[in-house]
Amino acid sequence: MRDNSARWLAPGDPESISVALATRFSQVYNYDPEGVWFAPGRANLNGEHIDFHGGRCLPMALRHGTYVAAAPRTDGVLRLRTLDPSLDSGIVEIHDAAAQPTPAGTPSWTTYVSGVLWALAQLKDEHPEIELHRGTGADLLIRSTLPIGGGLSSSASLECAAALAFVAIGTPLGAENHGDDLTRALTDSLRAVLAQVCVKAEVEAVGAGTGGLDQTTSLRAAEGKLVSLDCRDFTVKRTDIAFLLRDYRFLAVDTGHPHQLADGRFSARRAEAEAAASALGVNRLRDALPEKPKKSDVELTLDEFDRALEAGADLGGLDAGSCRRRLKHALTEMLRSEKIHRILNGDAHGVDNTADLVGDLMSAGHASMKENAEVSFALADQVVDTVVQAGASGARLIGGGFGGSVLVLVPRSRMEDITSAASRLSPDVRFLEVVPSPAARAV
Ligand code: GLA
Repeated sequence: MRDNSARWLAPGDPESISVALATRFSQVYNYDPEGVWFAPGRANLNGEHIDFHGGRCLPMALRHGTYVAAAPRTDGVLRLRTLDPSLDSGIVEIHDAAAQPTPAGTPSWTTYVSGVLWALAQLKDEHPEIELHRGTGADLLIRSTLPIGGGLSSSASLECAAALAFVAIGTPLGAENHGDDLTRALTDSLRAVLAQVCVKAEVEAVGAGTGGLDQTTSLRAAEGKLVSLDCRDFTVKRTDIAFLLRDYRFLAVDTGHPHQLADGRFSARRAEAEAAASALGVNRLRDALPEKPKKSDVELTLDEFDRALEAGADLGGLDAGSCRRRLKHALTEMLRSEKIHRILNGDAHGVDNTADLVGDLMSAGHASMKENAEVSFALADQVVDTVVQAGASGARLIGGGFGGSVLVLVPRSRMEDITSAASRLSPDVRFLEVVPSPAARAV
């Protein structure tokens, strides 16, 4: 008989991890690092596959994330090593990293880091305080407490931790501010700039079609808060959700089925939705809906799409049915985000039924990930059905899909029932407690 005891992934204690990583750095490179920086992963309550369409996302930062111990070099060389046993191949050395987006012959994970150094170097004179000193290179040792490819933004958290390390060791802002002072000196607007640097690295160096949700969360989230991120202009409202977490918890179920964002399926979904946008004559799908969208606006827009097709709109050779389903996902997901935003910000509804309302919208979001976005997979669907039957208020696949994690809203009293029911589905299932946590920082 299978052992059904739940397997938890602990975030660990940041101080101890930082001290241990600095010690390992000294062993690996034979000198001490200048510091250790941390950037969290994220869970997204709603708003998947709509950041690049200007929709609203509702993420929170996790306690889990990536730690980077670093020291500067002045010869432009980047040396990297990860402690993740599945990726570690010893020290990887990249020459002139700031000058090239995709160095040849390096393991693919290293591009997430070297791409950030390159993208930061591209900023030139726009932000003198975070302009890299000439010839900046670095020695880095990396450790993650996130499941790699678990849909919890392990890649973005690596990018953001590296970005912070580079700012700390290679820019005027870092020279003037150390440790907590640097964390404080990084204003929200500088953090927004760094998020865009990381997006540029992922899109142009790695070649993955990220839309900025993950990097913005990692760099701009706040403790105890849900981030309400308007991806039209990347403004954020941080909402205190302590009232919800009094009797409920968020749980991430890592299915153990890793996803791979850089593969073509994510980009294909995005391209189909963008084809629908151009058939509708809008630059981004959010503009197809009014400021305060209602269900009827979604229906009207779908009708308009059908009429555009009848009138011969060009979808660039893509399948019309697929484009329509992607459109339906994006529009309904935008509507769900707006609803949750209003519910959590105190609109009309009493606090008592908040968890039920949010839970139902989460489960509706999952149904759309499955039927319209078509990014779900069998184990994620089973996890959602199983946890809801075991008493969860709602559950949904989060992140890019095709693998990864399910986010669950759990009444505190049902935690054990839910984790044992989900554990029975696969020996690879693991749990992370999702506690809304602070953004990237020095540790
Ligand atoms: C990945 C991307 C994000 C976002 C999500 C899906 O995590 O990096 O920008 O598009 O998928 O919501």
